[in-house]
Formats: sequence, C-alpha cells, structure tokens
Amino acid sequence: MNTAYDITNIALAAEGRRKIEWVSHRMSVLNKLCDRFQGDGVFQGKTVAVSIHLEAKTAYLCLVLKKLGANVWATGSNPFSTKDDVCATLAEEGVNVFAHHGVSAEDHMKEVHSLLLPRPQAVLDDGADICTAMHTRPEYGSRLNGFSEETTTGVLRLRALEQSGTLLFPALTVNNAKSKHLFDNRYGTGQSTWTAVTHLTNMTVGGKKVVILGYGWVGRGVATIAQGMGAHVIITELDPWKALEAHMDGYSVMPIHEAVCCGDIFITATGLERVLRVEHLKEMKSGALIGNAGHSDLETDVPALRSFARSVKEVRDNIFEYQLPNGRSVVLLADGRIVNIAGGSGHPAEILDMSFSLQLASLHYLLRTPKRKPGVYDLPDEIDEMVVREKLVVEGIEIDR
Ligand code: NAI
Repeated sequence: MNTAYDITNIALAAEGRRKIEWVSHRMSVLNKLCDRFQGDGVFQGKTVAVSIHLEAKTAYLCLVLKKLGANVWATGSNPFSTKDDVCATLAEEGVNVFAHHGVSAEDHMKEVHSLLLPRPQAVLDDGADICTAMHTRPEYGSRLNGFSEETTTGVLRLRALEQSGTLLFPALTVNNAKSKHLFDNRYGTGQSTWTAVTHLTNMTVGGKKVVILGYGWVGRGVATIAQGMGAHVIITELDPWKALEAHMDGYSVMPIHEAVCCGDIFITATGLERVLRVEHLKEMKSGALIGNAGHSDLETDVPALRSFARSVKEVRDNIFEYQLPNGRSVVLLADGRIVNIAGGSGHPAEILDMSFSLQLASLHYLLRTPKRKPGVYDLPDEIDEMVVREKLVVEGIEIDR
C-alpha cells in the first residue's frame, strides 16, 4: 500500500533517523514487548491513528507499531513540538504522517482530521484531539475499538464528554496507570522542564525563587528537581490536601497574589487555562521568567498579554520579552507552550519507555478484546504491573515477593 504523507521536507529524514536510532536503544521494555507481540497477529493489518508530540521517542513507537504489522497514521498533538526531521523519517519508513512544525491551530486540526479518513480501529490520543475530531464526524468511528489516552488533560476532556452523556466511544486512560503518571508526569516532566529552561535561557536555577502553580504529579516533579538545583520553591494550589503535602515536603505555600510578587521563575503545571492572567503578570518583578509544563498552551493568558503589552521582542531563540505599560517586563519561554517539548527534547527516553510500553500494551488490549460500551476505563492493573516489573528487570533490580 502507498504511504500517504504531507510533511515539511522529506530530505530531513537522515537526521530524524539518527535521533530515532539513539532513543531506540534506551527503550528496552518497549523492545521486549515488541518481541512478545511479534507473531500474535493482533496488530497485523489493523489501522492505528496516533496524535502525540511527534519527536524521536514517539516516532519510534510508531515504527514499533508498523513493525508489528499495523497501518499507522500519525500527526502531532501540538504543532510546536512536532519535529520535521522525524516526520520525514516516518514517511520514508511507510508511516502515513500529516504534520508540520509550527502550523496554526486550525491547520493542526485539519491534520488531525486526515487521520479519520482510514477509519482507524484503535487510536492513541494525547490531549484528546482525535477524540474531539471524531465526535464531529462519528461516521469515521465505525470500526473503532477505542481510544488510548496519554495525558491528564485528555482524560479530563474524556470525563467531561462522559459526564455530559455525549461520549460516543470507549477510551482507556493510560495516564491513570501508576507506571505512567508516577514516572512520566513526575520524573519525566520534572527533569525535562529544567533541561529546557536552562538550555533556553543559559541561566542558573540555584538561588532563584521558583513558583510552581499546581502540585499534582507534574508540579511535584518540577518542584523536586528545582529544589535539587538549589532553588527556593514556592507552591500555589487550590487543593487543600496537595497544599498541605507541599508544605510537609518542605516548600513554601502561598496564594498566587502573594507569590507573583516574589518569584523569579514561574512554572505552570495545572492543566487548566488562564491560571496566570494579566492581573498577575503586571505584579511580577521585572524580568520574571514564565514557562509552562502543562498540556495547554494557554495556562498563561498569552492572547491577553499580547494585547496588554506595549511591545514584544524575541530576546533569545524561543524567548519573548513583553514590555508592560507599568515599565516592567515579563519573559515568556516557548511562547507559553509546553516548555519541555516546544523548548526542549521532551522526556528522557528511559521514562517514555514505560509510557509507550503501556501505550503499546493498551492498543494491543483494545484490539484483542471485544469492543466496550462508550465510557472511560482504566487500564487493567495486570498491564500496569507487567510494565513496572519489566522496568525493574531492565534496571537490574530484584525485589521480594
Ligand atoms: P494533576 O491533576 O495531578 O495536577 C494538577 C494540579 O493543579 C492539581 O493538584 C490542581 O489542584 C492544581 N490546580 C488547578 N488549578 C490551579 C490553580 N489555578 N492554581 C494552582 N493550582 C491549581 O495533573 P498532572 O498530571 O500534574 O498534569 C498537569 C498538566 O501537565 C496536564 O495538562 C497534563 O496533561 C500535563 N502533562 C504534561 C507533561 C509534559 O511533558 N509537560 C507530561 C504529563 C502531563
């Protein structure tokens, strides 16, 4: 079958291949699962659609699905995290890929819609974009066994559809598996957020006052690494249990209107929109840095900031300084987008090894079991435990039974 693709430049494939090759040797559990599923025929000839931050590790997952016999259709989950070189490699390797770095939100959704055309039998979604598109054209879901959702924000969207009685398909919440959120959301985002911030800015974190909005799985990871780098960490939360947990973990906890006045670096990690608004931004110290570790590009209200600011200037690659009418400035990293991916290389490969092993097992489970009623389902515990036990083996760690 011919490969369909619409990408930026096929000539970038060699560089993409080099990056994918590097991560492929660091995703040992995924490689073991691929060997295990080889020959059972579950993926053979099945159409699998994938919308995820398209970079080397996710590209490798697409190639594993292809190796197992699936007909893979892929796009990004945020155009600013899409790497054009790995898209080129995927196209060369026979994955149907529709993705370009930096396209508008509207064009991104057109790319997502192209993945509906082959009427996928299983979908890997990261933020529920394919799910949203499928709900506008449900006829394209006629063969669908279900969605496998990667992230917290996607799970929230699925639950909202379920609660309003409008969810039309079954969905598995890979994000809710312990092998996912305990490691990917926490350690993966924790490390890669600070790798991206320090790489983008070439500044120190030690000695700075770092304000983290949200002490969920992502916020905890971002806080741990910041503290390890010598920052003074301040947490803002709405949830009283998490606020108390942050206090017991040794961080300062305060409301946002107090934190805005003292922070040097702000990292949003709530998964919600407009948690940092103009009323907060104008109270910040001049030159305060703002980065986002959540899925939404709008945790900081960037459109309102653009209209409020007197001027904006790209002061370093992917860093924009907004001059405010009160004479101060705020500095936005990666334009408010998910900083560890839009401004960095994303999670370490060994962490995504677990998340994508879960994804592979989840898609395998969707395709080999009878179709469920529309609803939001957690992954079976035995799949979760299988992945964490395999990871312990790979890490050379034995434990008691
Ligand atoms: P979570 O639900 O565990 O934590 C979010 C926390 O934010 C909650 O404790 C909530 O009470 C708090 N919160 C909500 N509104 C707030 C506000 N206005 N001020 C302060 N705190 C507030 O979610 P999790 O797993 O930590 O994910 C957070 C976001 O990060 C989601 O959008 C998720 O999709 C995304 N994510 C990003 C990754 C990355 O690579 N950057 C990786 C994994 C998840």
